[in-house]
Amino acid sequence: MADKIRVVVLYGGRSGEHEVSLKSAASVLRHLDRARFEVIPVSIDKTGRWQWNDLGTIDQAQAAALPILPEAPEMRLARGPDGRGVLIPISASATAPLEIDVVFPVIHGPLCEDGTMQGLLELADVAYVGSGVLGSAVSMDKDVAKRLAEFAGVPVAPYRVLTRKAFVRDRASSLAQAIEGLSLPVFVKPCNMGSSVGIHKVKTRDALDAALDDAFRYDVKVLVEQGIDAREIEVAVLDGEPLFASLASELNPNAHHEFYSYEAKYLDPDGARVDLPARLDAAQMERVRALAVQVFAALECSDLARVDFFLDRRTGEFCFNEINTLPGFTSISMYPKMMEASGVPYGELLTRLVHLALDRHRQRQSLERGYAS
Ligand SMILES: Nc1ncnc2c1ncn2[C@@H]1O[C@H](COP(=O)(O)OP(=O)(O)O)[C@@H](O)[C@H]1O
Ligand SMILES: [Mg+2]
Repeated sequence: MADKIRVVVLYGGRSGEHEVSLKSAASVLRHLDRARFEVIPVSIDKTGRWQWNDLGTIDQAQAAALPILPEAPEMRLARGPDGRGVLIPISASATAPLEIDVVFPVIHGPLCEDGTMQGLLELADVAYVGSGVLGSAVSMDKDVAKRLAEFAGVPVAPYRVLTRKAFVRDRASSLAQAIEGLSLPVFVKPCNMGSSVGIHKVKTRDALDAALDDAFRYDVKVLVEQGIDAREIEVAVLDGEPLFASLASELNPNAHHEFYSYEAKYLDPDGARVDLPARLDAAQMERVRALAVQVFAALECSDLARVDFFLDRRTGEFCFNEINTLPGFTSISMYPKMMEASGVPYGELLTRLVHLALDRHRQRQSLERGYAS
């Protein structure tokens, strides 16, 4: 049917969150309204190859994680002759170039949600779901994100930033700087990672050295952050006029994990218990939802984001921890669950996201690119 909107669901990706993406995309494919959308599943493998996978075969597999089909033709994304985004086969094949209406990147982590992919999509002149280059990039950098949030009046935990250059040049003074004004425990984190990779809870001064060494394996910029005895509260934000914040949820990592570590997130089936809605009083719920909207706006995000906070048990104050501009979309992921609990079912959520992307693209297309008298 010609009037269906052609949606490329992009999955996989060259990040450590490749496998999470396969599960997220399987859910998205199940819930996208096929009466409105013609779905094109395009995978990105770990080497960065883009392939157009046959929808029928994928549908038949009914897998909890979308497969990348071995025979799927390799494609590249480009700006087509009439200015529309097209998928073009890399090698001469029977597959003709395919014009597309919108890309739904269901991919997470560096090279996927940090502005790089968004830059490619911009150059191809294609509409896409999610934040643009700027919002994606500043949201991925935990340091810049916190600075912008703080500038907008949203509290953040005190932290220091170390660069690998300075650490290599003068280890002793970097170590001293790292905890200046902070008290143990501190959290050491690579600036641009996710999934708790490279994150350490440091309880003694002696352990700081090794934690920094490890974190610098993942990034050239590392945060040393005041450890907070905190409850972990998350809010889903959906674009619109006005921005919509979901009910908040609370993640309670199982007591035998020191924090919400990689193990607790992905390896331990009982890693965390979720309260949705979070057990907050009405004023706290209202406050954290308002803060989430403030962060979303301050970081120039679009369409969707999951905003994560700490609720300090000692002071009762919220502080902003991090934001995910392409949050998990698996059947048990918090973003769609929080939206569902707040009155936006999964399928409707996807329809709204696709239309938000198309609207924004149309608006940007209508802008003058040069001096107009
Ligand atoms: N300042 C902090 N105080 C207490 N716990 C923290 C702090 N920073 C991180 N954590 C713990 O580490 C987890 C992962 O940190 P986070 O900054 O969210 O990184 P990621 O992007 O990998 O999820 C958090 O969910 C929390 O359990
Ligand atoms: Mg986190």
